[in-house]
This record gives sequence, structure tokens and C-alpha cells, in this order.
Amino acid sequence: MIDQLDAIQSEALSAIEAATEGDALEAARVGFLGRKGKLTLASAGMKDVPKEDKPAVGQALNAARKAITEALDAKLAALQADADADAAAGIDVTLPGAPLPRGARHPISQMLSRAVGTLRRMGFALATGPEIETEWHCFDALNTPPDHPARNESDTFYFGDGRLLRTHTSTVQIRTMEAAPPPVRIIAPGSAYRRDEIDATHLSQFNQLEGLYVDTDVSLADLKGTLEYLLRSIFGKDTPVRFRPHFFPFTEPSFEIDIQLRVKGKAARWIEIAGCGMVDPDVFNAVNQARGDQAYDPDKVGGFAFGLGLERLAMILWGISDIRLLIENDTRFLRQFA
Ligand code: DAH
Repeated sequence: MIDQLDAIQSEALSAIEAATEGDALEAARVGFLGRKGKLTLASAGMKDVPKEDKPAVGQALNAARKAITEALDAKLAALQADADADAAAGIDVTLPGAPLPRGARHPISQMLSRAVGTLRRMGFALATGPEIETEWHCFDALNTPPDHPARNESDTFYFGDGRLLRTHTSTVQIRTMEAAPPPVRIIAPGSAYRRDEIDATHLSQFNQLEGLYVDTDVSLADLKGTLEYLLRSIFGKDTPVRFRPHFFPFTEPSFEIDIQLRVKGKAARWIEIAGCGMVDPDVFNAVNQARGDQAYDPDKVGGFAFGLGLERLAMILWGISDIRLLIENDTRFLRQFA
């Protein structure tokens, strides 16, 4: 039987040696080690081997199986290496690879980072509020009477159950003061929604940045200094900034802020860029009523608030002529800001 095993082993080794591809190698494995393979069948003969010969025959059987298995493994690795070499042949590894497209932040995100970065250095903390709001947070608490045009069905997305999509981020002023007593120094970037016809300067969803500062001894000079510093950090330190009296229900006095845009070869012009003012005492009164205390006693605290449109800031800074470019995700446009 040992001779028989030797014969099977050499037959197997030559078959493995002769195999030039995976299928032939697999056939050899099945032919010798498979359930009906030659070595497997031969090992059935063990039961007829005289007892005293069993150890020697058993050893020979194991040696044959080991030799065949090792030869199979070695050949498999060799065939794989050949296949890899073939696949790599003709590839010049010194050629530059396919370029990975480089991503970039959207201009609105870039503008947001600039504004938030500057304001945070001045000590403003980020605050948030829901985009689905109550009429009270969006209008009543902000001293906006029921007949104010901003509340019109045709200007605002109402859900029909008293809720609405906030028309401005000024709602976060109210949410913040409801939640915590003064002092307050927050900025709240986020989406606002209006039922505007979409055109080159209007979107029905856009981004605002709200600010609120409430403490004792807050003056109009603080408001002016803060916003001039912010706008000059965005548009350049020599940018002329002007405060023009205006009206907002939630501030008194109120202003619109303009910056002067000077394009080479064109007459300089003023562009409106933000709304702001000193918080109206009626806003504090509404907050106190909701809180059930006098934390925001208008005789003791005062504050300023402001709201900026981020699309507008980006359009002016980068000379973007149509606001819709900002939401079209056309990489030919966006690539310019990479
Ligand atoms: N909420 C105003 C708007 O959307 C902008 C604004 C004006 C915000 C004056 C303010 C403010 O905080 O004081 O048009």
C-alpha cells in the first residue's frame, strides 16, 4: 500500500505541476483529494492493513496528503502571481493618476463662516430655532400687528393650523429670551421662507443671519460699531457703511444699513444690506408675559438686533448677478468659488 501511495503522490505532483490555469488545478485537487479522489479512495484501504503496519501506512498517507496539499497551494499562488503580472503588464505606474475632483464650500457657506467667525470673536454665541413656527413667535411677540402686510396669506406659507414657515430669523430673538434671562448675545443663522415669485433677486427659501444683544447699558453706538466692524470684515476695511432711518415693528429706532459699492468705471452706489435697530420695549413686554416674570424689564435692560440676508451679501461680494445660481448646483458656477 505504501508503494501505491507513493505512486498516487507522484502522479498528483506531476498533474499539479502540469496545470497552467485555475480550472486544471481545481480538477487535480478534486481528482486526488476530493471525496472520490484517488488518495481518498486509497485511504479506504487502511482498514485491510495488518495492525502492525498501520502506523507506517498511516504516516505515509498523511505525508502524501500534506505533499499534495502544499503543492496545490504553491501552484495556486504561482498562478495568481502570473495573472497579476499579466494584468499589470502595459501599465506605466509613473503616469499621473486620474485626478480626484476637488470639492469646495458653497458660497453661502463661505459667507456664513466669515460672518459667524467675526461675530463669534466679538462674543456672540450661536442660537437656533425651529423653521416651522407659531404666528406668535413670528409676528405677535415681535410687535407685528394682525393687519401688518408681512402677515398676509399671499406673503407667508401657512399650514392652516396656526403654524407657518418662519418669514425671518427674528423668531430666534423671542425663543432665546423666553429660554434664558439677560444678558443675551446671540447670532442665529438659518432659513427663512416667503411666498415670493422666484426671480433674479428672490427665492422662496433663503438664508438670514439674525443677531441680538441685550444687557444693561446697550447703546446705538454699540449697534453701529458692531455692524460696521462686521461689514468691513466682509467687504474690506475701507467700505463706506451708512445707517438710514427705517421702520421695523420690533425695533425703535430702526435702520436699514447700506454699504457703498464701488465698481471700477461705474458710479459708486449704495446697496441695502441689513435691517437693525434698538429692541422695542413691546418685544420685551411680550417676552416677559410669556416667561411670567420681569427678567426683561424695559426700564432695566435694552438691546439691539439685526438681520442680514446671506444670499445678498454673497451676491454683492462676488458680483453674482442672479440669486438662482446659488441653488442650481451647476458646478461650472460653483467651481469659481473653490
Ligand atoms: N427680520 C427683518 C427682515 O427679515 C430683518 C431685521 C430688521 C431683523 C431689523 C432685525 C432687525 O433683527 O432689528 O426683513
